[in-house]
Parts: sequence; structure tokens; C-alpha cells
Amino acid sequence: MRDFTSILPLQLEAVSYRAGDCCLLDRISVQFRAGSRSLILGPNGAGKSLLLRLCHGLLQPSDGVLSWAVDRPHAQAMVFQNPVLLRRSVRANVTYALALRGMSWRMRQRRADRVLEEAGLAPRARQPAAILSAGEKQKLALARAWALRPEVLFLDEPTANLDPGATKAIEQTINAMHAAGVKIIMTTHDMGQARRLADEILFLHRGRLCESGPAATFFAQPETREAAAFLRGELLV
Ligand SMILES: Nc1ncnc2c1ncn2[C@@H]1O[C@H](COP(=O)(O)OP(=O)(O)OP(=O)(O)O)[C@@H](O)[C@H]1O
Ligand SMILES: [Mg+2]
Repeated sequence: MRDFTSILPLQLEAVSYRAGDCCLLDRISVQFRAGSRSLILGPNGAGKSLLLRLCHGLLQPSDGVLSWAVDRPHAQAMVFQNPVLLRRSVRANVTYALALRGMSWRMRQRRADRVLEEAGLAPRARQPAAILSAGEKQKLALARAWALRPEVLFLDEPTANLDPGATKAIEQTINAMHAAGVKIIMTTHDMGQARRLADEILFLHRGRLCESGPAATFFAQPETREAAAFLRGELLV
């Protein structure tokens, strides 16, 4: 039975991440609340992926405190830019993830069929996941994450290198999950996508959180020079 105590908000207080002498994330303080779609923007190397990995618990902060309202790791899932798929069928990629969560065989089959149908992957269910196209692989990774019914979903550039059709399909799935109450926290380089999806923007530059707030305000009136330059499409280094 699902526990309905929310794991949100996720609170970061002066969270830093260092590797050797480099401070890759510098005293990030932010609160992720339920309901909004939070998009993390910033140039290459800003620390976006690191921040997602820290939030998802794949890395530990060097300093600062990262805390969930309730500690329930299975309530969060992550989809990576290059999805990690098993050398199994499309369907088995979903059912295996569900088996790891202890779901019964019958429930696994039913849930897998449903998410693959929703993702438009039902005709490919028996094929090896390895032969899917890049867009289909990303759809499968998202369908697998959706099958786990997470409360929070982290997405690291889920549509990088995908064409407009595949991007649209992925965005529709993200929006369907948002509508179903899943908290979306994602990174993107696609400004059009950020404008389409974001309720809230976090702008990172060189490991620092330069700005965070409502998307409409960020796009209309960025507060910092770095964010304004980024929005104008200038090369930030
Ligand atoms: N394990 C690590 N050890 C040392 N440095 C790392 C490690 N992981 C990431 N970095 C460095 O941290 C910085 C931030 O990396 P990150 O992958 O978070 O950037 P990003 O904002 O996601 O960039 P991109 O837009 O290219 O995906 C980079 O300079 C990267 O080289
Ligand atoms: Mg990245």
C-alpha cells in the first residue's frame, strides 16, 4: 500500500560538493516543493547534473545539509541523458525494475503493459531494448520511471539530441506525470523547452545558484548579469 506522507519538500542548506581542490557546487540553498515543475538551467559545466545527482542521493554533499521531509528513497526516480537500459527486452526493462521493488508477477505484467501502451512502445515490447532508436530509448527510460510511480522525478536533459517529434512525445509524458502529481525536477539546454515546461527556474553558473524563482519572472526580468547574458544566447564561460 502506498504511503501518502509526502517526501517533499526537499531542502538544501548551503550544500557544497568538492572534488579535490575544486568546489563544483558552492553553498546551494533551495527548497523544492510539491506541485511545480522546477527546471535547472545554466551553461555546460555549471553543475546541473551534479546537483540532480546530489538530490537523488547518488552523491553525498561535502558540506551543508540536504534533507527530505520524509526519508523514503523509493519515492524518487531519475532518468539520465543517456538512459541506462538492461540487455533485455523492452518489456523486461520495465518488469525487472518493478520486481526489484517487490511487486508481484501479475502486477508487474499489468503495469508494464500499461506504461508501454501509454508511451507508444507496446508494438516494441518484445524487442531487445538495445535496438531501439535514441528517442525510443528515452521513452522507455521515462516509461520505466513512470511505472515506479515516484513522487519526485529527476530528469537530466531528457530530450538532448532528439528531434522535435520525439521531444514533443517526451514533453507530453512529463506533463502527464506532472498532472498526476509527480514533482518534476529537470535540466535542459533547450530554452524553448524551459519556457514550455517550467513553473520555476534555478539558474546555475560555475557551481553557484545565481537565481531561483518563478519562470515568468526569470524570463521577463532576470536579476543577474549572467542569467541575462545566458537568455540572450551569449556564450557564458
Ligand atoms: N566526479 C567528478 N569529479 C571531478 N569533477 C567532476 C565530477 N563530476 C563532474 N565534475 C565536474 O563538475 C563540473 C560540473 O559538471 P556537471 O556535469 O554537473 O555540469 P552540467 O552543468 O551538467 O554541464 P552540461 O550542461 O555539460 O551537462 C564540470 O566541470 C565537471 O567536469
Ligand atoms: Mg549535465
